[in-house]
Amino acid sequence: MESQETSARGVWGSKVAFIFAATGSAIGLGNIWRFPTVVSQNGGAVFVLVYVLAVAVIGFTVMLAELTLGRHSQRNPVGAIDYIKPGSPWKFIGYLGIITGICLLSFYAVVAGWAAGYVFKTAAGAFKGQLTAEMTTKIFADFSSDPLQVFIFFGLIMGLTIFIISKGVKKGIEKWTKILMPALFVLIVLLAVRALTLPGAAKGLSFYLNPDFSKLNGTVILFAVGQAFFSLSLGMGTMITYGSYISKSSNLVSSAGWVSFADTFIALLAGLIIFPTLVSFGQPVDVGGEGLAFQIFPLILSQFAGGYIFGILFFTLLTVAALTSTISLLEVPVSYFVDERNWSRKKAVLVIGIFTFILGIPSALSMGGMQFFTKLKFLGFFAFAFGNISLAVGAFFICVFVGYIWGRKKAFKEIASGNPRFRLRYIWAFSLMVLTPIVILIILYFIKTIAG
Ligand code: PHE
Repeated sequence: MESQETSARGVWGSKVAFIFAATGSAIGLGNIWRFPTVVSQNGGAVFVLVYVLAVAVIGFTVMLAELTLGRHSQRNPVGAIDYIKPGSPWKFIGYLGIITGICLLSFYAVVAGWAAGYVFKTAAGAFKGQLTAEMTTKIFADFSSDPLQVFIFFGLIMGLTIFIISKGVKKGIEKWTKILMPALFVLIVLLAVRALTLPGAAKGLSFYLNPDFSKLNGTVILFAVGQAFFSLSLGMGTMITYGSYISKSSNLVSSAGWVSFADTFIALLAGLIIFPTLVSFGQPVDVGGEGLAFQIFPLILSQFAGGYIFGILFFTLLTVAALTSTISLLEVPVSYFVDERNWSRKKAVLVIGIFTFILGIPSALSMGGMQFFTKLKFLGFFAFAFGNISLAVGAFFICVFVGYIWGRKKAFKEIASGNPRFRLRYIWAFSLMVLTPIVILIILYFIKTIAG
């Protein structure tokens, strides 16, 4: 019975397949679009330092907790908790995750649409010739405030996401990510090499890598931890869901390690491209807005022989990287409606997909498309509320649930399948039960100061 149920839900073809899919979820706009922006707005190198620490300690802890819970229960976030504590109110963690996933996807797909739109812009030659930062800023402003273009590409992204998710785990998610993630990686390394050899690169690097500790404060820590959750796809049950498709023989600890490492590596590379390029083109490094990445990548591409082809390739791969994240965002609510409400996959995908599109309309209109939403800074607000706060709250409760309610010993036992000698288990348990929850509570407390 159990095994039948398992095979109907789908399992990853191999450990490598899981790593690619989970890395695909993790690597996305968070690394290339959001990371440089938050670095820019939060003091540069000191933020980078806190961020790397946050990933290594807090991110890794939560990632392992989610994977363990997912593989043990082989269920979606709501079902996973219900499996361990049947009928308990702790299920709200799962519901919170599902709501967060839908809200995140609603603005994320808008930004992914910008990337898709830039494939066409680049192909049409918008970035040919000698570019200045003023020119690329204007191109971005014109594009992102034009409702027609924004909606076409936002719709395209939602349509593709719906299509892939309706195909299921193996044939949809797995097949795509295996080929496209490595290609993105190669391209980013090449762009970074070019950026680092631009005149003035060193000054940009200093802002990015030489920490000024006077800039360290609660906001920096809040955004660093929030960004770690966002970038690693944690706090809303993505990794519970993806973990639920992992086989019992896989090593969860090394899987969590690989995904965290690869994701951080790509984010750091994105910064290596953005900051030297900013300085080299005479732009301030510390005022990045939502469009930062879209204004800066065309500049670095214009410095390439063959930048035209590179540009098309780059934005294509960025779109794909975003797609491997949007599908993981949609998979969470879909798996819930399929597992718990007995909806067919097709129905779940369509209903939630369309609902998300409607929810995304204010974000799509908030870059100048409509005064009302632009003034509210709707997209930025959603990114903060759901990409930061909700994920942190979710991660807090996941730690408490796994550490205290389910219990660390049972989690150890699940991890032992596939990794019988988990040496760091007591350190992990300490981080899970004490350190991470306390850090999250402190940063949530700081929000008052930021909002006020
Ligand atoms: N991690 C993804 C990115 O960095 C975004 C994401 C967040 C995906 C949460 C799934 C869940 O782009």
